[in-house]
Amino acid sequence: MIMMDSLLITVLIATVSITTALDNGLALTPPMGWLSWERFRCNVDCVNDPDNCISEKLIKQMADLMISEGYKDAGYEYVCSDDCWQSMSRAANGSLVADPQRFPSGIKGLADYVHSKGLKLGIYEDFGHLTCEGYPGSEFYLQMDAQTFASWEVDLLKFDGCNSQLDDSDRGYPAMSFYLNQTGRPMVFTCEWPLYQTTQGIMPNYTGIRDACNYWRNWKDVQDSWDSIIEIIDHMGDDVGNFSSFAGPGGWNNPDQLIVGDFGLSQEQERVQFGMWAMMASPLMMSVDLRNIRPESKALLQNKNIIAINQDPRGIMGVRTQQMGLVEIWNRPLTPVGNMATAFINKDTGGKPSIVPVTGSDLGLVSGSLYTVYDAFTMSVVYNNASSNVNYKIIVNPTGITMFNIQLQK
Ligand code: GLA
Repeated sequence: MIMMDSLLITVLIATVSITTALDNGLALTPPMGWLSWERFRCNVDCVNDPDNCISEKLIKQMADLMISEGYKDAGYEYVCSDDCWQSMSRAANGSLVADPQRFPSGIKGLADYVHSKGLKLGIYEDFGHLTCEGYPGSEFYLQMDAQTFASWEVDLLKFDGCNSQLDDSDRGYPAMSFYLNQTGRPMVFTCEWPLYQTTQGIMPNYTGIRDACNYWRNWKDVQDSWDSIIEIIDHMGDDVGNFSSFAGPGGWNNPDQLIVGDFGLSQEQERVQFGMWAMMASPLMMSVDLRNIRPESKALLQNKNIIAINQDPRGIMGVRTQQMGLVEIWNRPLTPVGNMATAFINKDTGGKPSIVPVTGSDLGLVSGSLYTVYDAFTMSVVYNNASSNVNYKIIVNPTGITMFNIQLQK
């Protein structure tokens, strides 16, 4: 059966002429929104847990709160259901169906609601024969499913890779990208293609990935813990295959959802995640219960100074430039040329802030120029007339971040 699936998909793909460029004009800066997975998982028990199950009620509540609580004004635009929105089987004509109890208006009705609020709707499917949670996958239905999503007026598709043949990814994701383009409806296409390959020791073809996808998951699922955040940051910093160089307007590396406001991180650690996701030009997909969020987490998610770094129009992904014991330095070029963000993160759990002696060149400053160094979170001035050869002592809290927005003086 598996061999037959593989053969069929090869035949299917060989018979369509595939344009490799994802030419949908979307995601010119990293997409921002809300995604159900990390916080709400595959809770389909609306009988015992009606307020938290995956349902149109939940998605509509989040859409409402994105507006009334200022998230939309801060830039968050996509409200997305992850896995488990579907019925367990397709309709008689083969098309996908939303679970009728949990989504009584159907996905089209939900899209209408979300659009009436000025937001966009995201949905989830899987390139294999089943989703990760066992709902119908798109294998053999790529074209039909693309058309269904377009007819529902979906704006973003997260396309997972569970229950698929690893070998098929390099053709299957471009095929779905082709079919999405063919519908004529612009839909952000987000792929899990490199995740499944990297975790199996296969080097992903980032050129092909960027051609087909608007953003792509590089590494394992984020969990509600500091260890998970650090594991992801380490993977992104290792940058194996130089994937950072493939980020730019239209296509982004994706270290996974924001867990700011959930249960697992301290306030310092939440600042690390949010600051680092800005350094890495990552999509900012919150996965949090917006009905119950600590005020400081909400303020962080809406920090306009950090969001501006995330959304910098040049779209150059920051990279790790130095590791000094448990402290590491990251640098991201910003607009206009000469400006940058520099972040120090401290993995020490020992409790005492670290004092890191550096020179201006460690911050990324170029010799012969003068800079103003601002705290990236508050935009208050930290150093005036900074230059490459001056010594600085940077204080970084344990499991914390010190992040600068550095501007070239004219
Ligand atoms: C995979 C993905 C997650 C989420 C779940 C849903 O684990 O990586 O982001 O979509 O599937 O089942």
